[in-house]
Amino acid sequence: MADHSWSTSANPTYRVLIIGCGLAGLAAAIGIRRVGHEVTILEKAAELQELGAGINVSPNGTLIFREWGILDAIKDKANIPYAASMRSYKDSFQLFSQPLGRQMEELYSAPYLVIHRADLHSVLVQEADRLEIAIHLDSHFTRINFSDPSVELSNGKTYDADIILGADGERSACRDALLGYNIPSQDSGDHVFRITVKASDVAQHKDLMELVQPPCVNLWVGPGANAITYALKRDGLLNVVLTCAHDISKTIQHGPRRVEIHEAREAFGKWDDKFQTLLSLAQGCTKWTLLQTPEALYWTHPDGKFALLGDSAHAMLPYLGQGAAVAFEDAAVLGTLFSKVQHKSQLPDILSIYERLRKPRTTALRSRSQAMRDVYAFDDGPLQQERDRQLQHHAPFDGFPNFLADPVLQKSMFSYNAIDEAEKAWDTYLRGEWPSTRGMWNVVSREA
Ligand SMILES: Cc1cc2nc3c(=O)[nH]c(=O)nc-3n(C[C@H](O)[C@H](O)[C@H](O)COP(=O)(O)OP(=O)(O)OC[C@H]3O[C@@H](n4cnc5c(N)ncnc54)[C@H](O)[C@@H]3O)c2cc1C
Ligand SMILES: *[C@@H]1O[C@H](CO)[C@@H](O)[C@H](O)[C@H]1NC(C)=O
Ligand SMILES: *[C@@H]1O[C@H](CO)[C@@H](O)[C@H](O)[C@H]1NC(C)=O
Repeated sequence: MADHSWSTSANPTYRVLIIGCGLAGLAAAIGIRRVGHEVTILEKAAELQELGAGINVSPNGTLIFREWGILDAIKDKANIPYAASMRSYKDSFQLFSQPLGRQMEELYSAPYLVIHRADLHSVLVQEADRLEIAIHLDSHFTRINFSDPSVELSNGKTYDADIILGADGERSACRDALLGYNIPSQDSGDHVFRITVKASDVAQHKDLMELVQPPCVNLWVGPGANAITYALKRDGLLNVVLTCAHDISKTIQHGPRRVEIHEAREAFGKWDDKFQTLLSLAQGCTKWTLLQTPEALYWTHPDGKFALLGDSAHAMLPYLGQGAAVAFEDAAVLGTLFSKVQHKSQLPDILSIYERLRKPRTTALRSRSQAMRDVYAFDDGPLQQERDRQLQHHAPFDGFPNFLADPVLQKSMFSYNAIDEAEKAWDTYLRGEWPSTRGMWNVVSREA
């Protein structure tokens, strides 16, 4: 069990204000509070609602939870899938199966898990309470002063701090304030149906049982569309998410709206009988437009007192299932760097180190996620046939059509240790070798 007490080091402590109490904001708050700083979160929602559905957390994310001593609490509410299967829409034939479960844990010393977003959020909120992080709800920010860091809320209140972090999600007002212009979220060309199905109903159908027993991630691929299912611990639900291409001219549907299940059945009408049986078990259906948001050109303000993290910095399409995981990496890097600061004049430097450390990685993941979208959506024909041949008859190679099995991507995704990377970066900085800082690495010896 990791040490639960927070740091007692003699380093100075600073006041950090975080905008947004999603997974990114909460995780950063925990990472920074654990090492002794004062943290306040401002969240526009009037209450912390239990929203969302299933998310994946891959080993480099769960590694961070272990370090923070909250992995066991998270595992209690999570499932550890045994494998991830890719299937064809035509006959549900299994094209490829990638072991997860014990194999991932042995390879990367941390589990690959699936969990309801609300359950993960609630464990983080509990940990934030334990660490005495102040969470102010009903706090919608309207203005940030980047030079003399402070935040003004719509109710007139203001908060000041030494550092402000923006974690207000994909349609980020913090990002617009930082850049000085609005980056509109675009229609990605896909929309999503989320369907509620009880895992126990699925298990009663002989030909569907393999979807839930043993618990596996299943990904079907078909022309212009894909579907993913996995069992969640919460309420015995099977998480079912269907994605399909649409006419890009249609108006954007932000956030889930209830629709009749027949809309999804129509869109997936050409899929095989097994899949139709699965859809027949639906108890409810919601639909929304999948957004695509250009990446912010930079994440930190030139005055060195503000940075973005999570989706506001690098929202990505969901095809690698890494959105939450990268947010936890951001948080671990920030927490590690905040544990090092010896002097206030180093704060701008740690924000530049953070951005330089993180951005190439998230940019690469964003583009790989985009590429997976196409691979999952091939029309029947030569591209699809070659993809399926590789999946069935070829050992995984760099660029393999199942990203979980791609040896190069897998290693870079899952063996990345955000805490180690930040430690190494700090050591480089202390030698005066980190590019683009204000050079405050020797401020303490200079003052002595
Ligand atoms: C309601 C919801 C449901 C989701 N469901 C899923 C899911 O089922 N599966 C999945 O993989 N991912 C889901 N996600 C996305 C996933 O949580 C994120 O991709 C990832 O966790 C990174 O999150 P984030 O904290 O950067 O952003 P978000 O999770 O979007 O959190 C941003 C937070 O900032 C708050 N905020 C926004 N504007 C302001 C403002 N002006 N002032 C103060 N606060 C503000 C928001 O209310 C929100 O709490 C969901 C996100 C949300 C918000
Ligand atoms: C693991 O690393 C990959 C990139 O290499 C990243 O996308 C992902 O978010 C990381 N996962 C976790 C859980 O931190
Ligand atoms: C930020 O705050 C300082 C000090 O209160 C003030 O002088 C400055 O004008 C403010 N900047 C903006 C952009 O509001």
